[in-house]
Amino acid sequence: PAAVIVAIDGPAGTGKSSTSKAVAAKLGLGYLDTGAQYRAITWWMLTNGIDVNDARAVADAAAKPVIVSGTDPAAPTIAVDGLDAAGPIRTQEVTSAVSAVSAVPEVRARITALQRSIAAEAPRGIVVEGRDIGITVLPDADLKVFLTASAEARAARRSGELKGKEATDLAATREALMKRDAADSSRKTSPLAKADDAVEVDTTDLTLDQVIECVVTLIEGAG
Ligand code: C5P
Repeated sequence: PAAVIVAIDGPAGTGKSSTSKAVAAKLGLGYLDTGAQYRAITWWMLTNGIDVNDARAVADAAAKPVIVSGTDPAAPTIAVDGLDAAGPIRTQEVTSAVSAVSAVPEVRARITALQRSIAAEAPRGIVVEGRDIGITVLPDADLKVFLTASAEARAARRSGELKGKEATDLAATREALMKRDAADSSRKTSPLAKADDAVEVDTTDLTLDQVIECVVTLIEGAG
């Protein structure tokens, strides 16, 4: 059978990663976390002393880091210049800087090309999660899903993932999420948006298992 390509987009904290990983594992597909790639290039910029608010400097360096994504949904990996980046890309410092870096057109062009080649090489198909997958990266995907959730639900979920002190400050988590979504939705190049042909799923009152079931059913229906 032909490879199946699934695009899952939506704002932060809507359950994209948990859902995409589980769906991919269930159906024997690959999994690609495109946010991890933008985080990885951001981490490289920060560790190489590039001012992330200097779009010219970021553009000039965009092609330099070598980013490798492992697509096994049971153990996804991300490496930058041969270094494991899974830990460092989740720091507050990277999270705060990623929207500025991902807004730079040269960064997007480079990462988009990488994403397309990974999707094209997935033998049985792949679930790709991000912000602009359905509209820009894989407009011919077999299924496009756009996940949403209330601001409260998203902040609570994200807070649950953070450790210690950060987790206790729900208001700050919520504010940071809103700020990042506003930046991602308002940038000129390939903003966060729902494709016209995407199925919108509001996950506010659904359990993770219900969302997974819903997406699996949609994929089976799309095949
Ligand atoms: O999904 P995650 O929250 O890890 O994504 C981190 C950041 O990467 C987003 O806030 C956004 O700035 C950027 N991103 C993007 N396009 C994608 C995926 C992520 O611009 N397809």
